[in-house]
Amino acid sequence: MAQVKSDALVFYGATGDLAFKKIFPALNMMIKRGNLSVPIIGVARGDYDLEKLQERARQSIQQHGKYDEETFEKFCSHLQFVGGDYTDPETFSRIRKALGDAKNPTHYLAIPPVLFSKIIQQLDLSGCAKGARVIVEKPFGTDFNSARELNKVLLSKFSESSIYRIDHYLGKRPVNNLSFFRFVNSLFEPIWNKDHIESMQITMAEDFGIQGRGAFYDVTGAIRDVIQNHLFQILCNLTMEPPKALDYESIRDEKVKVLQSIAPLRGQDVVKGQYKGYLQEKAVKENSKTETFAAIRLHINSPRWEGVPFYIRAGKNLPVTCTEIVVRFRHLPSAYSTIATEPNYIRFRISPDVIVAVGMLIMAPEEDMQSVMSEVQGNPTPFPNEKDAYERVLTDAMAGDPTQFARQDYVEDAWKIIDDYLASDCPVFEYEPGTWGPENVDELIVPPGGWSNPVVKKNKA
Ligand code: BG6
Repeated sequence: MAQVKSDALVFYGATGDLAFKKIFPALNMMIKRGNLSVPIIGVARGDYDLEKLQERARQSIQQHGKYDEETFEKFCSHLQFVGGDYTDPETFSRIRKALGDAKNPTHYLAIPPVLFSKIIQQLDLSGCAKGARVIVEKPFGTDFNSARELNKVLLSKFSESSIYRIDHYLGKRPVNNLSFFRFVNSLFEPIWNKDHIESMQITMAEDFGIQGRGAFYDVTGAIRDVIQNHLFQILCNLTMEPPKALDYESIRDEKVKVLQSIAPLRGQDVVKGQYKGYLQEKAVKENSKTETFAAIRLHINSPRWEGVPFYIRAGKNLPVTCTEIVVRFRHLPSAYSTIATEPNYIRFRISPDVIVAVGMLIMAPEEDMQSVMSEVQGNPTPFPNEKDAYERVLTDAMAGDPTQFARQDYVEDAWKIIDDYLASDCPVFEYEPGTWGPENVDELIVPPGGWSNPVVKKNKA
């Protein structure tokens, strides 16, 4: 189904949290830009109707998007509602009817994965799967086996090219800029390897807790929630080989090769933490060992990266909200080695602001034989009309472009790296909210030169 425009959007979970925070605002912008003019069918269980759904959409866009009357009226003119149980064939007959003569509908499953297989079956039985594509939300499974099972279910009714596995980080321009920057600048690619790079670290810090998502988060944890997907995607963009062409399969092929070159994580490669107060959060089970913080170390066994350590850290209730990457370079032996006290680096900030910066040593003022670090920033010009990540991925899915979606083998290979570790019973250490995780991180998983903690100017957050 690739590259065929979809002519209807059915989204399941229309009254859920994700729809409220992300999907309605994204659909609204797609309509505003003229990228969505097909029937939009919201599906949900429970006591809802079209009027209530419209009101929920209005509030969602007002709180999380860019609201204007004219676009919202258009939105409402496309919006329909189908209520009912996801296991009831009747629900799907109503969806089929609502689809009218649409030939290539998109079914967007913004619901917990436990419901996927039932819905897929019903889509097939009701005729809704014919000519259709399906978008599935992360996390895709909870481990390798469940992901494989889910893939089996999806592939039994849809072809791989009709399955769009969402990772909204792939809709972020600064994430895509990582590989773009490497390959368009002839300056960096020759030194982007083990001979010149000493280490890389990726930090995804959030200064808030689980925000009422206890039921989801407690069975998920930081590693499944953001490392296995968002941060591995960042890692792949930073380390993959140049794709042989810019088509989506070539790019995805290279990412998969990175994952396949990473050995499964062992206990000594990970430190897990849980913020104090987590156990009192709603819907968190008593004595839960779920991690709200994780720091990991891994290696990529390829000729380019042999021996280079990669560090990834993510957590809730840390001091700032910021996703940032620091690539540190090696010192080259020379008579200047003792003066070059700090390594050169490249810093990529993904959010809340976007920065690409290079750290270079220059001669210190008044001290000819001392160096000071000076950072040159190439900040991309702010672009107020930038598409939000969800708008970007949904626009692509409706247009039939799978580039920014995870392929079956990618998802399974990502699980293979963490599966054994997740199955093991490793300790979780407490940390104070507002700190950089458990204290022992700095003894156990520490990059050469230490962790680089992002500093965020408050007015930019
Ligand atoms: C989601 C995670 O996928 O990404 C959340 O479930 C996390 O826990 C969110 O907060 C972060 O996304 P963003 O785009 O705000 O960095």
